[in-house]
Amino acid sequence: MNGGLPLVGLARRLVGEQARPVTSADPVSRPAPLLTAVRRRPGVHSLDGEWPALIDPYRTGEFDLFGNPNGRGWHRGHRPRLAADGTVLPTDRTEYDFDAAPTLTVPGSWVGQRPELSLYEGSVWYQRRFTHRPVDDRRTIIRFGSANHDTRVWCNGVDVAHHIGGYGPFDVEVTDHLRSDGEQQLIVRVEAERTPDRVPATDTDWANDGGLTGHVDLVDVPATFLRTAWLQLDPSGDRLVGSVVVDGPEASGTSLVCRIDGTDVWAAPVPSAEAGLAEAGIDADVPDGLTRWSADDPVRHDVSWHLLDDAGREIDRLDDRVGFRTITTSGTRILLNGAPIMLRGIAIHADAPHRDDRACRDDDAATLLDWAQSLGVNFVRLSHYQHPEAMLEACDERGLLAWCELPVYWGIDWTNPNAVDSARSQLDELVIRDRNRASAIIWSVANETLPGPERNEFLRDLVARARAHDPTRLVSAALFVLPGSGEHETHHLDDPIAADLDVVGANNYFGWYYGDVDTTPSIVWTQDVERPLIMTEYGAGALAGNHGHDRARWTEEFQVAVYEAQYEMQRAIPFIAGTTPWALKDFRTPKRQLPGIQDGWNRKGVFGPNGEEKLVAEVVRRVYADWPDPAPAD
Ligand code: GCU
Repeated sequence: MNGGLPLVGLARRLVGEQARPVTSADPVSRPAPLLTAVRRRPGVHSLDGEWPALIDPYRTGEFDLFGNPNGRGWHRGHRPRLAADGTVLPTDRTEYDFDAAPTLTVPGSWVGQRPELSLYEGSVWYQRRFTHRPVDDRRTIIRFGSANHDTRVWCNGVDVAHHIGGYGPFDVEVTDHLRSDGEQQLIVRVEAERTPDRVPATDTDWANDGGLTGHVDLVDVPATFLRTAWLQLDPSGDRLVGSVVVDGPEASGTSLVCRIDGTDVWAAPVPSAEAGLAEAGIDADVPDGLTRWSADDPVRHDVSWHLLDDAGREIDRLDDRVGFRTITTSGTRILLNGAPIMLRGIAIHADAPHRDDRACRDDDAATLLDWAQSLGVNFVRLSHYQHPEAMLEACDERGLLAWCELPVYWGIDWTNPNAVDSARSQLDELVIRDRNRASAIIWSVANETLPGPERNEFLRDLVARARAHDPTRLVSAALFVLPGSGEHETHHLDDPIAADLDVVGANNYFGWYYGDVDTTPSIVWTQDVERPLIMTEYGAGALAGNHGHDRARWTEEFQVAVYEAQYEMQRAIPFIAGTTPWALKDFRTPKRQLPGIQDGWNRKGVFGPNGEEKLVAEVVRRVYADWPDPAPAD
């Protein structure tokens, strides 16, 4: 089998026009495949820190009174004008000044940094000055870990990138726009409007955390370099598959080598380049004794990919730490390294512990996963969008399995080309960034979308795209469970998209939104197509510390009653292979405004916003301690 993969997204650069009215109809810059393993590269320099930032709710920085681009855009940045004798002249009538602006911390959403920004969804302009001297035969790339939602980047006044999507990484080459004196300036405009043609669209049950919410790094690379590379066992466990993308004018005529713990496992010439990019598929033997990554032994290997010139001298290398394992299904079972496993998990929002922000700091992942693992989980559902890289790195280290998801959530405009384009590019970001993460076992293409011909086609396109990028993992989606009113003795899973998935996720709220606690345990589940089922959502709201009758909503006791009923029902489902209650902790959402109880928070957490443990945590611990992996098929 040629491990080569269709060259998805190779360079076809559509660069947005100069500062046209930025609607999502604007062509976005479609750069080459993602730069990955960024923080392991020798030429990486962090640009994180305090960035001067100006809010721009009326888009004054881009448009004139009539919505046309203005030539005085804030993208030019601001340089004091000096008289011959060096005195600073009053600048022209620029009604902005980054030198005098307050700062925002990067990475971080603006929502928790200034009171007037707590629900702000407009535009903010960031400036970052830095010193970086360009060097001949070296290239400079700026990489954004994430920015929510529509981002334009200018380097020294030149429009270099336009990215749409709030949760995944993107990068832009700025080599040709660097000043020779080394004094560089980035201006970044981030706009966080919710619009019907976006993904997600206008309604979500989580906070719209606008801003530069991911790390920002400058990466210095050789003229020809390794842009991305990945390696994993194929589902049989008998082959190593992956790919390497070479970026540069001399991509052809050189060779590639891949090593595991310093030993060659694969070598090949660089294929001919297309628009300066060459992608080589990897299909190699598995070295004897390659230890499998698992929950009990999350062992990772040093994997390196090398670009060599004709004389065998190294031009560039890429390093990563990779855990090798297989994840497959058999009937209604999920198999890790060929053995059936029960995914005893919890659903997690990337909602920061202890502060109003996306969980964008590396130690946020550690805190959230400590809370999760205190419940005895072996699995986390990273909902409903791409989580920061640190979360997957931490799952790799801890031996936790992870469900990774796209924000194709509720009402999407299925036939709108902007929505299709954004979902596809977000899927590329979700899969390409984390293909070396052993913990990532499931790519989820949607959450709670209503069946219909346009939606089914939209999701099937994403399922195929995920498999084209990565044939080694499972593809799923969290599906609606919307029973009618009245008695519920049975529930039948009949979503037509199930047949296209490897695993089916189901979000059921028996006992909270419908049905009742007392009849929930006796509900019998059936399914149209035979698939492993992960119960991807269930639960109840409870304000931490609010106690009362176990049938009184918003009490911890009622939350316990719903979980007990849910687990009694779930344990009887013959095709259940996983379970993730909603949710690890209370999380910020403008949708939830019940005074004195919600106050802008979804209270379905097992923990409160600051880790306050609710009574239901003990229920989860007890159930998980007594829910064994399925017996191997005889
Ligand atoms: C839905 C949805 C979640 C939401 C939850 C709730 O299932 O997927 O994003 O937060 O219900 O109502 O709490």
